[in-house]
Amino acid sequence: MQKQTVRDLDLKGKRVLMRDDFNVPLDEKRNISDDTRIRAALETIQFCLKQETSVVLMSHLGRPDGKVVEELRLDPVARQLEKLLGKKVLKLNDCVGSEVTGQISKLKPGEVALLENLRFHPQEEENDPAFAKELAALGNVYVNDAFGTAHRAHASTEGVAHYLPAVAGLLMEKEIEYLGETLANPKRPFVAILGGSKVSGKIAVIENLMRSVDAILIGGGMSYTFNKAKGLSVGGSRVELDKVQLALELLETAKKKKIPFVLPKDHRIVQKIEKGAEIQTTSSSVIPDGWIGVDVGPQTIEEYKKVLQTAKTVIWNGPVGIFEIDGMDWGTRQVAEILAKLNITKVVGGGDTAAAIAKFGLESAMTHISTGGGASLEFMEGKVLPGIAVLRDRENQRIVGAGKDL
Ligand code: 3PG
Repeated sequence: MQKQTVRDLDLKGKRVLMRDDFNVPLDEKRNISDDTRIRAALETIQFCLKQETSVVLMSHLGRPDGKVVEELRLDPVARQLEKLLGKKVLKLNDCVGSEVTGQISKLKPGEVALLENLRFHPQEEENDPAFAKELAALGNVYVNDAFGTAHRAHASTEGVAHYLPAVAGLLMEKEIEYLGETLANPKRPFVAILGGSKVSGKIAVIENLMRSVDAILIGGGMSYTFNKAKGLSVGGSRVELDKVQLALELLETAKKKKIPFVLPKDHRIVQKIEKGAEIQTTSSSVIPDGWIGVDVGPQTIEEYKKVLQTAKTVIWNGPVGIFEIDGMDWGTRQVAEILAKLNITKVVGGGDTAAAIAKFGLESAMTHISTGGGASLEFMEGKVLPGIAVLRDRENQRIVGAGKDL
């Protein structure tokens, strides 16, 4: 179901209450180490400002658990927003209450405010209706651009949408379009690359993708559980023993459906997972005792390449090795470089895969890199995301005119 967006509303003179996902990584000095999510939010903010609106931004940061945590205040986000927008951002010390309402009521068209971390209030994650209503009172239209948090049914992502005309932002629209279109209507052959440390986190994704893909390439930590299921020796590599049977069943389903399921043919191995560890390469899919798999090897990359070169659409979620440690990122870099050279649709589920692509400086070579980690995973599982479901459907009448009755 297509959703209405900011383009479908006459925003002139309105106060836009906008949910963004400014849950960005901070270093020890509370400097933002990756502002991708902030930059991704700019287009919608600027779109609204151009229409003489005032904009009230809201987000969570980290998991403060319903308490004020000084290190998780949104001030660094406000400073970065000011820099990127080139205008003052009024940073408030809370997200509800009379002081906030007073400050927000003074906002003029063209001005931007940022509320304090929503998760300082337990009512946010409880999706408390009274709290949602208080937030809703800060605007007269609600825009959800926080794709990264759309899998959470919280007051600012779901509850608030019951009290205001609720539409998608331009980032949300783009995410739904790329991820949704790729999964529902891919140009074939359609290939999925799935990695990451645990098979348990990817079971539902694999099951859902097996309905539509033409081939699946498996790498990363979870491949050892599959290899174990095939009776291969995995040495000291991490295996989820309680998922071995399930891995076997997934392999059997793939076989029945005649979906090529490519597992690593060789591995890069270490004796201890640590920076600077000596890395060796196996000559087969067997990992000797005393060794731990940390990456895929060159034979596997060749195998992946053969499949990828036939593809018209690729969806990638999960690095194929421990990309955070130099040297153990070799396989993931090879996959990214192969994709970079292909002139096809390449959609990347966010989280670690996005971080890996950023590390290699290959962002611009991908068609779309999702800003969602958990959200993109749930989307790929075929789940309905509550933060999207609650937004107005496109079938609804186009709404024009000023005033509360949008
Ligand atoms: C994310 O980073 O995936 C989102 O911001 C959601 O954060 P959460 O997992 O703490 O809900």
